[in-house]
Amino acid sequence: MKKEAIAHPNIAVIKYWGKRDVRLNLPAVSSLSLTLSQFHTHTIVEWGSLRDHFVLNNEEMQDKQAQKVFSFLDRIDPNRPYCKVISDNNFPTAAGLASSASAFAALALAGSAASGQNRSLDEISILARQGSGSACRSLWGGWVEWKKGERSDGLDSHGVQIATKSHWDLRLIVAVVSDKKKLISSTKGMLQTANTSPMYDAWVQTAQEDVNTGRRAILNKDLDALGEAMEHSTLKMYSTMFTTKPAIRYWKPQSIAIMQEVERLRKSEISCWFTMDAGPNVKILCHTKDAEQVAESIGKHTSIVHILEAGGDAVIL
Ligand code: PMV
Repeated sequence: MKKEAIAHPNIAVIKYWGKRDVRLNLPAVSSLSLTLSQFHTHTIVEWGSLRDHFVLNNEEMQDKQAQKVFSFLDRIDPNRPYCKVISDNNFPTAAGLASSASAFAALALAGSAASGQNRSLDEISILARQGSGSACRSLWGGWVEWKKGERSDGLDSHGVQIATKSHWDLRLIVAVVSDKKKLISSTKGMLQTANTSPMYDAWVQTAQEDVNTGRRAILNKDLDALGEAMEHSTLKMYSTMFTTKPAIRYWKPQSIAIMQEVERLRKSEISCWFTMDAGPNVKILCHTKDAEQVAESIGKHTSIVHILEAGGDAVIL
């Protein structure tokens, strides 16, 4: 059988960092995210082929990435036949967004359908989580909470939509500082943090408070409250990275200049707030009416700035 699906990337407003189970990719903390429109991954899975193929953006892949895709298909069905996976991102690597969230959400959706399985969206989110943690949030549009769950089998750790894309008229501005592959993968970074940072326990113990504040702010459409919680969660996550041995520093001087620009804009009464992930690019949340002005100010520090809207659910085509 052949099935195709589309999923969008998401950006965490309250961050996920740290795993309570590495094999099942279970998070130490819950997180909240915004799914983005404009960018997506489109994936076709053909269940039954002469050998395993993975074609990404028109190029046959034979590296670790291909191995990760084939092992992921084994999770869908350990007795599967050889499969062909054709995947395209409509956004350049230089877009400054990790593509693994949309990639594994689209692969989980298309792969399950192509294998003839009838999984619920929650079950597909659980599957996507095992490819890349943040992918479990990309099954739904708008605002999504990933509950860390309590069970050791991870069956209660998946995305839950808390508001649709039309709930709130905001924009997420992505300031691309570097499009180079990150120096240290998020999985490696998370393990190093848990093993060596004295800040890690405090991060885990205080994360739920940020999720609760963030959820309330989203439901009340209170950008100042969400922004404050988002920056706090981001900087707290970084404080655990900075204090590992050896230290993990994803920031570049330009990232700091952009954060300072965001603070300057706030002093001039524009509500805008930053977050960052496992890399030097900065993402800024603001009201739609202010987006052009914020993008222009950020454009003083970098030439690639995208203005993105909230996106919709992942879908089977
Ligand atoms: O989904 P992963 O394993 O690439 O980890 C994502 C980690 C952060 O982007 C830093 C935070 C998040 O919640 O997306």
